[in-house]
Parts: sequence; structure tokens; C-alpha cells
Amino acid sequence: MTPARRRGWFVAAVVAIMAAACSSIEPIEPIEQAESVEQTGEMSESGDVSSVESDAWQANEHLRATLNLGAVFEVGRGETWGPEFEVDDLAAIADAGFTAVRVPARWSDWAASEAPYAIEDEFLDRIRAVVDRALELDLAVVINIHHYDAVNDDPVAERDRFLAIWDQLATAFADRPSTVVFEVLNEPNGTLIDRVWNDLVADTVAVIRESNPGRTIMVGPAEWYRVGDLARLELPADDNVIASFHYYEPFVFTHQGAGFVEGADAWLGTPWGSDEERARISQEFATAAAWADERDVPVFLGEFGVLSDADPADRIEWLDFVRREAEALGFSWGYWDWATIDFGAFDAARDDWDPTIIDALFGP
Ligand code: BGC
Repeated sequence: MTPARRRGWFVAAVVAIMAAACSSIEPIEPIEQAESVEQTGEMSESGDVSSVESDAWQANEHLRATLNLGAVFEVGRGETWGPEFEVDDLAAIADAGFTAVRVPARWSDWAASEAPYAIEDEFLDRIRAVVDRALELDLAVVINIHHYDAVNDDPVAERDRFLAIWDQLATAFADRPSTVVFEVLNEPNGTLIDRVWNDLVADTVAVIRESNPGRTIMVGPAEWYRVGDLARLELPADDNVIASFHYYEPFVFTHQGAGFVEGADAWLGTPWGSDEERARISQEFATAAAWADERDVPVFLGEFGVLSDADPADRIEWLDFVRREAEALGFSWGYWDWATIDFGAFDAARDDWDPTIIDALFGP
């Protein structure tokens, strides 16, 4: 729990509460989608320019039941936020029924601060090992940049470094199959909003396309990936993109007691489950689906979860409801998270899955 993490989530909390009060949707022009290409999953021979040709819809189908490896590679360098993750844990994740893993990673702590901003092999190798084991188990993989605080604070100063990190990541994973998806940046925030964010997305896509012309790329809206901000996201002019958002509403319910959110103890005891509360989720998801339909883009609900401090029955009801609503609209989903005390589907103390969470995620 670093101060930065706390500060970030305090801002998120305030923003989320404000968003709940006034969610404004500004329509933007739909992007024309070209015809999809066949998914081949071929490996590139050179390893430099990928011959992988994926289709965003097929890639998203493989993400239909994703588990976020939260608190593993997203932690600050040298920090520990949860149980130790080992590559062997992926077998249990696949056995539990998950079809994919999202691998939030704090690359910015492992890239040089001077050009050419080289990523350290040690970290790259750790992620490579996860990706390759996941692929062996037929788990799709979302590779992202997570917690790059400096690019949120000063996107202009950090632009070259951000793009250089993507250039290296895209090259490093260019020969992996089409079930590896690149996600530009987790929850952009701060001053990385509106035109600044949309331009950085376009620039990042151009960098990725140099080495990965056929790879599926994922993007979400600025200001923390809130569902109501999808309309402010300008999808890149590219036919191989998945749109993503995260859902933790009502934030005072899902984040009650969160040690990393200032003031969250005051939310303890917040219940969930009224008809109005359910209707709000249905309405927000329906708006997201309509937005996506107009643009012919598949949707990944990349994070959702509830702190374990919430009432257990309400927590499971919320998870079950959100997961069903997502599936009913054809969204793939990513549960947050693997094994933290706060959110974990896996109970490290018992060395087993929490059956109530697994039921909520996979029940009929
Ligand atoms: C953040 C985590 C946080 C989670 C739930 C993620 O996007 O990276 O640090 O625990 O959201 O709040």
C-alpha cells in the first residue's frame, strides 16, 4: 500500500462518486470497421514482425472468463501486496474454468529512465514465463501497462518513454499467437484525458502495428475506465480492437474497508441489492453495449470485484449479477483478482478457491 497507490485510489473514489451523480455521454462519430481477418495463430519466423492475424471478436471470445493476476506484477518494485505467484499456479487457474489471464504489470519500474528506455530482462523474462505457460494451458493472455503514474501526471514528458516501452513489449511478444492481446494502458487518469489520451492511443497503436500488424489491441476510456466515459474514447482507426471498461459501482459498496482508499472505512456496512441498484447496472451496461454496437467493437469488462469486507451475501449477489449482465450482452469479463485478501477468488490461506466466488462466476 504505497502512498501513491492510496492517493490514486482516493482520487478514483471521489471521481467515481462524482460520476455516479452526473454521468454525461457525449456521442462521437462511429469509426468505420473494415472486414475482419481470419485468425491463424501463426508464429512469425523472424520474431520481429509478427505474422499473427487475429480477429478482435475471436480474441475477445477467448477472454470470456478472465482472471486478473492482480497484486503480482503490478506492485511497485521490491514491494509485496499479496501471496507469491508462481507460474505453476496457472494450471489451477485453468482447472478452475478461467479461459484467460490478464497480467497487470508495472513496466515503468523496470524500464530505464533514459532513451532508449530499455526494459530489464529480469522482469521481461518473468512475464514471458507467465505468458508461455498460460499459452500452453490454452489460456489467452492480456498484456498491459499498469500503474504508469508518471504518464498520467505528465503525458507530454513521458510520451517517448511510454511508446518505447510499447515498442519493446510488442517486439518481445510479436511471435506469440493471436490469443495474446495488448492493452494500451490500465485506467488512464490525471491529465491523460480527452484529446491527450486519444492521441496517445493512436500513437501507441501505430507503434504496435510496426511489429504486430495483425495483433488484437485493447483500449479503454480515460478517467479510470469508467463505463460512462466510453463515449469520450476515440477508438483507433483500426479493425482489430477490443474496447474495455472496469466496473466497481457503487464504489462505496465494492471498496468498503479498502486499506488503499482514504476514508473507505466509513463505507463499511454499505449494503447492495435493491431493485434500483440492479437497474443502474443494467442500464449502464446497456448503454455500453449500444455504444459498442454502433462501432461494431467487442467489449471486455476488464475488472470487477468487491472487497471481502462487504456483507458476504451482498458481495456474491453483486458478482453474480454483474457477471450475468455482462455475459447477456456478450461482454467478456475479467474478475479482479487472483488471491489478495481484499478480492481474491483464490484463498491462499486454505490453498483453495473460494467456492462462493467460483459459483458466482461460473454458476448457471
Ligand atoms: C488496481 C488495483 C486495485 C484494483 C481494485 C486495479 O486496477 O490496479 O491496485 O486493487 O483495481 O481497486
